Amino acid sequence: MSEQVRVCFIGAGNMANAGHYPALAEMDDVELVGICDLQEDRLTETADKYNVEGRFTNYREMLDQMQPDAVYIIMPPHHLYDLTIDCLEMGLNVFVEKPPGLTAHQATWMAKYADQNDAVGMVGWNRRFIPVLNYCRDKVLSYNSQVQQVISTFYKCHPETRGPYYRGAIDILTVDAVHAVDTLRWLAGGEVTKVASSVRKVHYDFDDSFTALVEFDNGCVGVLLANWRAGARVHQFELHTDGASAFINGDYESVIHADGEQFVERLDAKEVAGSDEHYRYYGFFDENRHFIDCVKSGAQPIASFEDSIKTMELVEQIYRSAW
Ligand SMILES: NC(=O)c1ccc[n+]([C@@H]2O[C@H](COP(=O)([O-])OP(=O)(O)OC[C@H]3O[C@@H](n4cnc5c(N)ncnc54)[C@H](O)[C@@H]3O)[C@@H](O)[C@H]2O)c1
Repeated sequence: MSEQVRVCFIGAGNMANAGHYPALAEMDDVELVGICDLQEDRLTETADKYNVEGRFTNYREMLDQMQPDAVYIIMPPHHLYDLTIDCLEMGLNVFVEKPPGLTAHQATWMAKYADQNDAVGMVGWNRRFIPVLNYCRDKVLSYNSQVQQVISTFYKCHPETRGPYYRGAIDILTVDAVHAVDTLRWLAGGEVTKVASSVRKVHYDFDDSFTALVEFDNGCVGVLLANWRAGARVHQFELHTDGASAFINGDYESVIHADGEQFVERLDAKEVAGSDEHYRYYGFFDENRHFIDCVKSGAQPIASFEDSIKTMELVEQIYRSAW
């Protein structure tokens, strides 16, 4: 592959514009060659902003004409599957946002098609790439590499007027609280062995409250707490090993405690990332850099389709084990 990576986008919506376009636009070895969106106003606005000449409303035409090395498919998860398989069958490297389809079954087939077509496939688990989260993880594990406990929390105050996501096409845990599920796995570092859970409809007529206890084969025990009728958006993680702990918040302040000392370090998420830009301090730049590096080397990413099957399976285990 040449030094320059030719990238096309399917989707010029909110997430693509908040995280992926600005991150890729900063990379000298990436060329944004084509954008496809069904909504022409979004297409024009994004293509003008990033100076992209290839503009399409039909993604197959875009891929035929632009011959990219990689495609970002950043669109609603219930419409994702067929486009992803089309791109993989063409041998293209593919980045999708979370979740990778609606089910572990769809994620499994995305992984199979990627493998059969020698394509790199990555899912946008951006929390795994948050600079302050990785700083805290490395620091805590430097005291003792045996993770004992992880607590992964995600709270939101889902507006009364909004209704279920995408008019009911997908549930909260699979589409959004799934970030907390994936980060729980990522910080625990082992394979899931047992799950016990509570899934409740506290406020809405759809599931809005999720509590799970997850045991891993490396001796770690994890707790997931997600509630979409809490006071406001709060998303944070606890990581404990023998004699060291981190309380991690990728938006604000994180704290490391060790050997009985209260504040070994207090860390501001933006200072650690060296930037006030959300796409930088919230992991989007680093996840995109990782994907482009994998496209160039042919290696599968740490957030591969294959690995993402396990996150989707854990979501399904949480539902199955609910009392
Ligand atoms: N990582 C995160 O923190 C995070 C945050 C928000 C959303 N997301 C994910 O990002 C994805 C997109 O969400 P969004 O909020 O940006 O959605 P959005 O609705 O703002 O954007 C999706 C875009 O895709 C376009 N589109 C749909 N079908 C198309 C097709 N067949 N061809 C071309 N364009 C098509 C739509 O016109 C729209 O502009 C979702 O999977 C969501 O779960 C991730």
